[in-house]
Amino acid sequence: MRHVIANLAVYVLASGLVLAAVLFAWARSNQLTLTTERALEPREWATVTTADAFDWRELGERTYVANCQNCHGAKGQGLDRYPGVIGTEALLAADGGREYLVHLVLYGARTGRHPAPMPPMPTLSDAQVAAVNNHLLTHFGEAPAGDALFIPSEVRDERGLRLSERDVGARRPAAP
Ligand code: HEC
Repeated sequence: MRHVIANLAVYVLASGLVLAAVLFAWARSNQLTLTTERALEPREWATVTTADAFDWRELGERTYVANCQNCHGAKGQGLDRYPGVIGTEALLAADGGREYLVHLVLYGARTGRHPAPMPPMPTLSDAQVAAVNNHLLTHFGEAPAGDALFIPSEVRDERGLRLSERDVGARRPAAP
């Protein structure tokens, strides 16, 4: 009888491990959706020279909902310790503001103006970063003229700079 119980215990343990492995694989595959999405981005987006030439609207909204809304709110109004993202066009217009808006997403930012830092999101694709910035500018702010919007290649050019959250915070334009 004891053997039976011991065997049963081993079976239960083993199936528990298998189940855990399956759950882990399932969770990973769900996380990989973003990568798949990136793989689906048309190659020609990497070389467009105007925002009109890449389809950023839906991508920008989706990227915002999945990666920004938790902190900045569904209406961009900000939540708790997290500031609103309304009126981002003033930052864009300021000296160095254009790079700042890209650095902010790639490297995060700690300006000391809020009790929390903005986390870095380097795994977003160039198109996602450009699209989400365009979404902020047009959805929660006054849309700037078409060629003021972001394109993927200018995000690519800002990668690899190894900026810290503080470095980015220190580069925030004084303007708004
Ligand atoms: C975990 C919370 C969090 C998430 C997620 C988040 N942010 Fe932020 N964001 C912050 C905080 C905190 C600040 C203020 C940082 C500071 O001033 O030190 C900020 C600041 C900003 C600002 C204003 C910068 C300024 O100087 O006025 C913009 C624009 C912004 N975030 C865009 C985004 C975008 C786009 C995303 C998604 C891709 C995003 N944020 C995701 C927390 C977050």
